[in-house]
Amino acid sequence: MRILAIESSCDDSGVAILEVKDSQPILLADLVSSQIKIHAKWGGVVPMLAKREHQKNLTPLFKEALKEASLLQKHQDKPEDKKLQEVKKILEREETLAKKLIPFLKKYQKPDIDLIAVTVGPGLEPALWVGVNFARALAYFWNLPVLPVNHIEGHIAANSFQNKINTGQKFPAIALVVSGGHTQLLLVKDFGDYQILGETRDDAAGEAFDKVAKMLDLGYPGGPIISQLAQQIETKNYELITGIKFPRPMINSGDFDFSFSGLKTAVLYFIQKLKKNQIKKLTPAIAAQFQQAVIDVLLAKTLAAAQKYQAKTIMLSGGVAANDELRKQFAQKAQPDFNLVLPSKNFCTDNAAMVAQAAFLKIQKGEASVSWQNLQASPNLRLK
Ligand code: KG4
Ligand code: ZN
Repeated sequence: MRILAIESSCDDSGVAILEVKDSQPILLADLVSSQIKIHAKWGGVVPMLAKREHQKNLTPLFKEALKEASLLQKHQDKPEDKKLQEVKKILEREETLAKKLIPFLKKYQKPDIDLIAVTVGPGLEPALWVGVNFARALAYFWNLPVLPVNHIEGHIAANSFQNKINTGQKFPAIALVVSGGHTQLLLVKDFGDYQILGETRDDAAGEAFDKVAKMLDLGYPGGPIISQLAQQIETKNYELITGIKFPRPMINSGDFDFSFSGLKTAVLYFIQKLKKNQIKKLTPAIAAQFQQAVIDVLLAKTLAAAQKYQAKTIMLSGGVAANDELRKQFAQKAQPDFNLVLPSKNFCTDNAAMVAQAAFLKIQKGEASVSWQNLQASPNLRLK
């Protein structure tokens, strides 16, 4: 069986094709089109711009993915006009998408795909709807079933890819999902069986990276830039070198919730007291100290949860899990007590391969697909 997966919950458009052969998943194509350049000017993701870009990106990505999977074939017969009119109706709020998809449907025949998996939430509503309506249009036109996927479950499923850093996993597991939109700590009894132990009460961890980078005039997204700057400072000597110390919010709160807004404000107050030339000089140290504050809180809470629930495995995912220092310190502190699973970096940030993988795991558990008419975006979807 082959699964087509679509991701459009934030600022990455993703299309992947996964083949299941002898019960083993094989990725035939995994393409992501990042919109970073477009949102960078605004210092963060602008939902309506994300919607516009997804509309432009999805059809070309889909075509390229089919090509990579050797599934792209031109039509022998012309498709019915009536059906194309219906596609136009399904995409009436995504005019740009319709303009790209309809000529594609006229030119190429139904590929050898059995199911469409699509992210339905949580995420930015206008962005989610583009992927959802893309899936609805294809499912209608080619008469295919659809499997709605929770974006967070997608991130967690990225942990089940075989990768060089670590393989295999054992349950129960503690999953830390840290991205630009989400910070959640979950107890995973099995794939598909989740309990949210805690989450951020204000900013997501990645959002804090992005906002601190904006304060320091470093650009967007902040995570990779802050991570690079922080590498200029020796971890052990932060305080000796600079005397900078930021708070570790809620580290001793006794629960599994997070808060990063106060940390962000602490950085702001610190910067406001400095002269311009001092800010420039201290930027790597500020970046390193801020990053360490985030890591300390994430590490402490994750380890506490793993101990409390006697987890066998700790799984990291989401864009912030691509952070080198975080990966290094988790590896030092979590192993050997726990089996640490770190997806490769390209599977930490948003992608459609993780959506395909989540769908594969759902099918294995016997989850039923839905018909395209019942599919809708759920911006505030929560895991159960
Ligand atoms: O998972 P993702 O691609 O999208 C969301 O679902 O939000 O995560 C994007 C977030 C951004 O906030 C970005 O700054 C952060 O992940 N990020 C990082 C790193 N790479 C991306 N944060 C810290 N260190 C990194 N290396
Ligand atoms: Zn994400």
